[in-house]
Amino acid sequence: MHQTLVILDFGSQFTQLIARRVREAGVYAEILPCTAPLADIEAREPIGVILSGGPASVYDEGAPRLPEGLMEMRRADGSEMPVLGICYGLQAMATALGGTVERAERREFGRAHLLADPDGSVGDPLFDGIPAGSTVWMSHGDHLARLPDGFRATARTDSAIAAFRRDGHPHVGVQFHPEVVHTEHGARLLATFARAECGARGDWTPAAFVDEQVAAIRATVGEAHVLLGLSGGVDSSVAAVLIHRAIGERLHCVFVDNGLLRAGEFEEVQATFRDGIGLDLVGHDASDLFLDRLAGVTDPEAKRKIIGAAFIEAFEEATHAIVATIGRRPAFLAQGTLYPDVIESVSFTSGAPSVTIKSHHNVGGLPEKLGYRLVEPFRALFKDEVREVGRLLSVPEEIVGRHPFPGPGLAIRVLGAVTPAALAVLRQADTIWLDELRASGLYDEVWQAFAVLLPVQSVGVMGDGRTYENVLALRAVTSVDGMTADWARLPYEFIARVSNRIVNEVRGVNRVVYDVSSKPPATIEWE
Ligand code: XMP
Repeated sequence: MHQTLVILDFGSQFTQLIARRVREAGVYAEILPCTAPLADIEAREPIGVILSGGPASVYDEGAPRLPEGLMEMRRADGSEMPVLGICYGLQAMATALGGTVERAERREFGRAHLLADPDGSVGDPLFDGIPAGSTVWMSHGDHLARLPDGFRATARTDSAIAAFRRDGHPHVGVQFHPEVVHTEHGARLLATFARAECGARGDWTPAAFVDEQVAAIRATVGEAHVLLGLSGGVDSSVAAVLIHRAIGERLHCVFVDNGLLRAGEFEEVQATFRDGIGLDLVGHDASDLFLDRLAGVTDPEAKRKIIGAAFIEAFEEATHAIVATIGRRPAFLAQGTLYPDVIESVSFTSGAPSVTIKSHHNVGGLPEKLGYRLVEPFRALFKDEVREVGRLLSVPEEIVGRHPFPGPGLAIRVLGAVTPAALAVLRQADTIWLDELRASGLYDEVWQAFAVLLPVQSVGVMGDGRTYENVLALRAVTSVDGMTADWARLPYEFIARVSNRIVNEVRGVNRVVYDVSSKPPATIEWE
């Protein structure tokens, strides 16, 4: 068991970032909804609690409050529970203890500067190493009008109390968001809270995680066999290597070629994992099945459904060889499920169920249909932590640092009907784009980059002749988690070189455009 910090989620869009920053400081953090009963928090035996921000106003009807008894909570060793309130969390704590919060005359959004408070100062231990004048990032319409008795302000901005401490108790609050990168020393402040205020030892390390998971996988799986759908992406690849370390040849991997992979991918992934790492890996070519079913289909969601259903069939087909060898169906199926997929999300702004923008499936449906038990070693991890674990396990850097690639593959990057000819054109252009990004050292600067073949033809001139060919879009985005993204500001000269190469080398494309849309309002993929 690691020392754990519990983060109570009051609905802020930044709650996951708090957890990531705390974990980067070497301390395990878990997110619970703010409606969690005290018993759920106590069950984690936390060494401290962080209250996130949130969109509500504390005086709104039905506004979320602190769980009953939170401020009196004790740690397992009997000491008082350290609590840090962030933004709404600070206001909820203050309100619970008799302070008052009012709508501010001037809302504070964006950058502000920390000023020492006349009574206290930014010399408070929570601000260790953080100088007065540092930039902090604010996002609030309400502010603390009166501190509860026994509290004092420890920092201000020019318009509001920026931080407080409760005398004689380990209770602190900050009005700004230390978890966002715009707050200059925010990560340091969260680390100080975890280490100094909560006494964290820093026992959350990739090495400890690997040891623990290897033991846990052995205990769960016993003598049984595990099946894993390898995609060559970061999550399934690192999961495969980790599980292989735990149970060796009782791990059986299946890599399905759905005909929608990038150039050379089917061969490269097999070479890396079977020949290089020594995994038991079945490569199953099912491209005809997928491409036949996709013929003439243009609707993006219809494509996803067809691909999802075909994947289950192809995967099942591919396991026959494994079942024949080991004499039974493996009892377990391993998946690279990550923490963001399992956090119970909290929404106080709308009661309506959230709209499905795109159905991201992958292996969804497999366990239910085929009765596998699940092994999900990364259920507690963020993607950057999986990358760390991968590096520790010596998974090759070209796999660990890979951009995400969607389960439906190139089918959602050939807009409109998917044909072998269109896929061939897209593959060739995509290879040039990614090769150039790597060669220029820009690949790691972007979260994801790819080409999209548009079902639009335009007139061009090549040599002395008129051409009438397809338009190809290049997309490169920066992002932290794929939830929001911005188009990458790549150098013009670089884009010019890629465009030139594509038009000259790829038959069927005579015009290249660069996508300058952010998410929202666009999405990363075009379909
Ligand atoms: P969007 O296009 O929704 O993409 O902004 C966000 C991230 O998800 C990936 N993506 C998918 N991944 N199955 C997947 O496994 C899908 O159907 C799918 N659609 C989008 C996308 O590549 C980006 O990383």
